Amino acid sequence: MRELHSALAAILCLLIVGACDLNDDRPRDEPDDPETGLTEFQEEHGIGPFTEPFELDEPVDEELAAQGEELYEFNCEACHMLDESFVGPELGGVLERRTPTFVLNMIMNPDEMARRHPVVQELLRDYPVIMPYQNISEEQAIAILEYLRTANGEG
Ligand code: HEC
Repeated sequence: MRELHSALAAILCLLIVGACDLNDDRPRDEPDDPETGLTEFQEEHGIGPFTEPFELDEPVDEELAAQGEELYEFNCEACHMLDESFVGPELGGVLERRTPTFVLNMIMNPDEMARRHPVVQELLRDYPVIMPYQNISEEQAIAILEYLRTANGEG
């Protein structure tokens, strides 16, 4: 009986996840947490195109970070400051609270993150604007991440 229950719960979650996620044809892992419908990976690293933990190279690539800074000024600064919350949270210390992969998925897939990720749903209580999708490419997102590694909010 218990087995039947958990099988039903899994099917239900898959149906709900499927219904929310019509644009994504990739096969999706079965959710580990039936309450959120997310895998353990997604809970830690976000939901989006980055499905493996993104490894940061050492040291920071200054050239890439400079490209990221320009992209950041153009696409992010209207809502985010480094050292203070504004329309969205301050991003100076974001890598102390979130994994690099979480930040990349948030940049590339903010709608689904707002809809399905408990961390972003929690943020939405304080920041009622949903961060917009801006069609940022993987390369651009990685450059912005590199910039955020150097931007600690003190400059
Ligand atoms: C129109 C305003 C707006 C723009 C533009 C915007 N964001 Fe956001 N961002 C938000 C809001 C508001 C949140 C809080 C979550 C939500 O409401 O969706 C957020 C959340 C985030 C988070 C999660 C922060 C945390 O504490 O977990 C990251 C990372 C982030 N944004 C990065 C970016 C980057 C990088 C850009 C530029 C590519 C960007 N955002 C552009 C409004 C914006």
